[in-house]
Amino acid sequence: MLVPHPRNSRVSIAPFFFFFIFHTFFTGSILCAEVSLSSIEIFKTHEWLKVTPTVYFLCKGENKTVFPDVKKAHVFYDFNGQESWQPLTNFSSKKCKRCGFYEEDSIKSDDVFDEWEFCPSDFTASNGEYIRFKEKEFNATFLCSECLSIPGVASLSGEHGRKAMHVAVVVLLCGLVSAILAVGVVIAYKFWQKKRREQDQARFLKLFEDGDDIEDELGLGTVI
Ligand SMILES: *[C@@H]1O[C@H](CO)[C@@H](O)[C@H](O)[C@H]1NC(C)=O
Ligand SMILES: *[C@@H]1O[C@H](CO)[C@@H](O)[C@H](O)[C@H]1NC(C)=O
Ligand SMILES: *[C@@H]1O[C@H](CO)[C@@H](O)[C@H](O)[C@H]1NC(C)=O
Repeated sequence: MLVPHPRNSRVSIAPFFFFFIFHTFFTGSILCAEVSLSSIEIFKTHEWLKVTPTVYFLCKGENKTVFPDVKKAHVFYDFNGQESWQPLTNFSSKKCKRCGFYEEDSIKSDDVFDEWEFCPSDFTASNGEYIRFKEKEFNATFLCSECLSIPGVASLSGEHGRKAMHVAVVVLLCGLVSAILAVGVVIAYKFWQKKRREQDQARFLKLFEDGDDIEDELGLGTVI
C-alpha cells in the first residue's frame, strides 16, 4: 500500500514550529530590562573594626556592585540612575534572581543586610518602582521602568493572574496544535486517497493492457 510519507512528515513539523514561536514570544527571551538603584538608606553597619563600611549589591552568578558613596548609617542616599556603577542588574525574562545587599567583612565572611528573590514582577507600581525595606537594616528603592513591558509581568501582579494567563496560553497552544494536526491529517488522508485512486486506475488500465497483450498473443488463434 502506498503511504504519502514525505507530505505527511512536512505537515507534522508545523505544530512544533508554531510552538517555538509562541514560546519565544511569551518568555520574552529577547528583552533586557535594566534595574537601577534609586535610593538607599542603611540603618546600621556590621563592621566593628573599620569606620567606613563597604556596602555592595550582588546577584548570584553576577558581579558585585559596590556603592562608593554609602558610608554612613541613617543617611538618605539619592541616585539619578546614571552613576558609573549603574545599572545594578538586568532582567531578560520574568524569571527571578537571588540577590542581596552585603557588607564586606575583613575577618569573617561578608555580612548580609538582606538576601531575597528579586523578580521583575516586583515592579508593579506604574512608575516602575520597587521599595524593599528591612527593619533595622535598610530601605532601598529600585527602578525598572522596562520591567512592566516584560511579557507575563505587566497587568498581572498576583499569582492568580499569572496562573490564569498560563492556563490560557496552554489552552490556546493545545487548540492551535490540535487544529494544525487535524488539518494535516485531513490533507494527508486526501492525498493518500487520491494517490490510491490513481494507483487503482493505473492497475486497472494495466490489467486491460495485459488483457490486450494476451488477446494479441491469442489473436493468432482467433484468426484461425
Ligand atoms: C564580571 O567582571 C569580570 C572582570 O571584571 C568581567 O570579565 C565579566 O564579564 C563580568 N561579568 C558580568 C556578568 O558582568
Ligand atoms: C545589562 O545589559 C546591558 C546590555 O545588554 C549590558 O551592557 C550590561 O553590562 C548589563 N549589565 C549587567 C549588570 O548585567
Ligand atoms: C523608604 O524609602 C522610600 C523612598 O524614599 C520612602 O517613600 C518610604 O517611606 C521609606 N520607608 C520606610 C519604612 O522608611
